[in-house]
Amino acid sequence: MTTSPRRAVVFTNHKGGVGKTSVSTNVAAEAARAGWRVLLIDLDKQGSAGWDLGYRHDDSTDHGQALLDMITNGDQLRPILADVRPNLDVIPGGQKLTELDLWLMSQVMKGVPPAGMLRPLLTDALNNYDLVIMDTNPGVESVMQTALGAAHWVVIPTQPDWNSIDGLSELAGKVAQARTTSPDVRVLGSVLFDIPANAHQIRKRADDDVTEMLGEEAETFKTRVRSAKKIATLARERGQVAYELATDAANAPAWHSILAKHTLAGAEGANTEESAQGVAPEEDVEYAPKSATGVADDYEQLTSEIIRRIIAREDATEDAAS
Ligand SMILES: Nc1ncnc2c1ncn2[C@@H]1O[C@H](COP(=O)(O)OP(=O)(O)O)[C@@H](O)[C@H]1O
Ligand SMILES: [Mg+2]
Repeated sequence: MTTSPRRAVVFTNHKGGVGKTSVSTNVAAEAARAGWRVLLIDLDKQGSAGWDLGYRHDDSTDHGQALLDMITNGDQLRPILADVRPNLDVIPGGQKLTELDLWLMSQVMKGVPPAGMLRPLLTDALNNYDLVIMDTNPGVESVMQTALGAAHWVVIPTQPDWNSIDGLSELAGKVAQARTTSPDVRVLGSVLFDIPANAHQIRKRADDDVTEMLGEEAETFKTRVRSAKKIATLARERGQVAYELATDAANAPAWHSILAKHTLAGAEGANTEESAQGVAPEEDVEYAPKSATGVADDYEQLTSEIIRRIIAREDATEDAAS
């Protein structure tokens, strides 16, 4: 590679509830687990990434104060929470970013386009991380424009229903708008989120519809995130990403281990060391359901696809330049 990679990826969609945060946090955690240095920037005033990754559970978030200060002062963005997971640093978002909306609007009034604002503040981060991921909030025009203008790659999570897909053309317009100040911002692809099991027809239809709305370059990733409400709720309650829930599920003793405790032989040998090791868990120890494994597989494969596509497009750009 002749130039150092610059990989700022924004997960965005002006619709809420389409998986922006779940996909951002899980892809960030998977890429970090695979060995890339990753920085997650949460540009959402809801700060939900902190629930997924756990730093809101122990209140170690500053609710976006540092991010607000860095942007409004024009300082280089630097990590606020180091090693939220090995290789994964975070700049938290949260309610303090309400002020960011107002500040960005005041800048727009002064004729400063939001799309050009954040990119210059990312230079250090891009030099220090293999991947910078931005989670965005729904609906807020100026923050979204800021994030789009700072990104090299746009990934669009969407649900497969027509209402969600129909809105994508508006998003395509926003990416085009961001390109006026950041000519290298490109759509990397879209992610179908919350897809029911065996929904081949729905998926095919959604693939075609997305392509119609966004064009070939936004081709949907083959891996979709399956519907798993229970796992998603547990993830946020516990502050664990999907692969961590899957590890927890894998550690759950087999259900039949409780039988040993209740056989005559089990009762007789109950005080031996050997039987102590085979003892069933206390009933109130709640392990994640086995279905977490499927969701974790989706995120692992999705991350692999996203990274492969980034690398392939980087190589293609380099070949074209040489
Ligand atoms: N695989 C899934 N299946 C169903 N619901 C999910 C799944 N993953 C996350 N969710 C839930 O969907 C909702 C929206 O997800 P979120 O990632 O917060 O979307 P956004 O950031 O676009 O608003 C949340 O309540 C989340 O718990
Ligand atoms: Mg969100």
